[in-house]
Amino acid sequence: MDQPRTALVSKFMTLERHIIEGERSHPDATGAFSGLLHGLSLAAKLVWREVTKAGLVNILGMTDHVNVSGDEVKKLDEFADETIYRAMDHTGHLCVMASEENESLLNIPDHYSHGNYVLIYDPLDGSGNIDANVTVGTIFSVFKRVTPSGKGTMEDILQPGYKQVAAGYVLFSSSMMFLYSTGHGVHGFTLDPTVGEFLLSHENIRIPKRGAIYSVNEGNFNRWDPNMRRYVEYLKSECKEEKRPYAARYIGSLAADFHRTLLYGGIYCYPGDMKNPDGKLRLMYENNPLAYIVEQAGGAASDGKRRILDIVPEKLHQRSPLFIGSSEDVKIAEEFLGGKR
Ligand code: AHG
Ligand code: MN
Ligand code: MN
Repeated sequence: MDQPRTALVSKFMTLERHIIEGERSHPDATGAFSGLLHGLSLAAKLVWREVTKAGLVNILGMTDHVNVSGDEVKKLDEFADETIYRAMDHTGHLCVMASEENESLLNIPDHYSHGNYVLIYDPLDGSGNIDANVTVGTIFSVFKRVTPSGKGTMEDILQPGYKQVAAGYVLFSSSMMFLYSTGHGVHGFTLDPTVGEFLLSHENIRIPKRGAIYSVNEGNFNRWDPNMRRYVEYLKSECKEEKRPYAARYIGSLAADFHRTLLYGGIYCYPGDMKNPDGKLRLMYENNPLAYIVEQAGGAASDGKRRILDIVPEKLHQRSPLFIGSSEDVKIAEEFLGGKR
């Protein structure tokens, strides 16, 4: 009873209300964002329902094909992929979609109206971890279309990341979280499963300027170029003032590794190497949306040389190296990679 009124009120900030209030503050808003984010949050709940019963209904196991990036596809990836598509195809706000699991564009069926936005998504990031009950996620990115009307085209999809108008991700973990930004900070919501609502739990997330955690698949060490190796040796070397050695943490689900980096600071790296010069992660589905989020939280994202959001994509499933996290950490990484340190 003695709690201040504001504290009580903030507990009732649902995702839906947050989106609607955000839109209301823009006089020219059309309600499209509310529609899009509402569709995505519904899809997330449907995917979560399947993820939580994955071990029970024997839904896991490989299908007999691999995805377009050459990875093995698990059934849950397909379920998430289809669920998101079906939750979004009839909203009237999208002109085209693209998903990491599909080689070409996902058209909006002719019998639904075509809107002004483009949705690009990684339906189930980290799905290789599901058998071990490790956190997985859905990552999404929204652009405004560049073609005037009708069906969206590749031109609408292949836009540089700085043109995103919204991005976010959902984490399927001990609790389910939905984080998003529409260019006014990053806000995180946790699902209250008893009422089926996402409640504001992390308002206006700010990433620390510098952290003391690094996250990289160090099993690839011998494939890295000497500058990358020297950078990681630096992170592991002793220096009290700089809180080194850094702690190493690597889950192997980008969404989860990124989320920890966002909250605690530090750096996540997926460099290019001798075998894969552009690394493993995909620019459109993974790097762009997370780069948008990290910048909105005061951090930075680079491919080692340039800002991720400035890269002009040439193809749908393009890969790029990723160095993302605290702004000072990303700057130091760039200095090492450029041979300046
Ligand atoms: P996805 O499951 O969407 O194909 O993504 C897998 C990605 C990413 O989640 C993770 O960070 C990375 O693969 C891990 O790669 P390594 O196993 O090479 O470390
Ligand atoms: Mn992924
Ligand atoms: Mn995926």
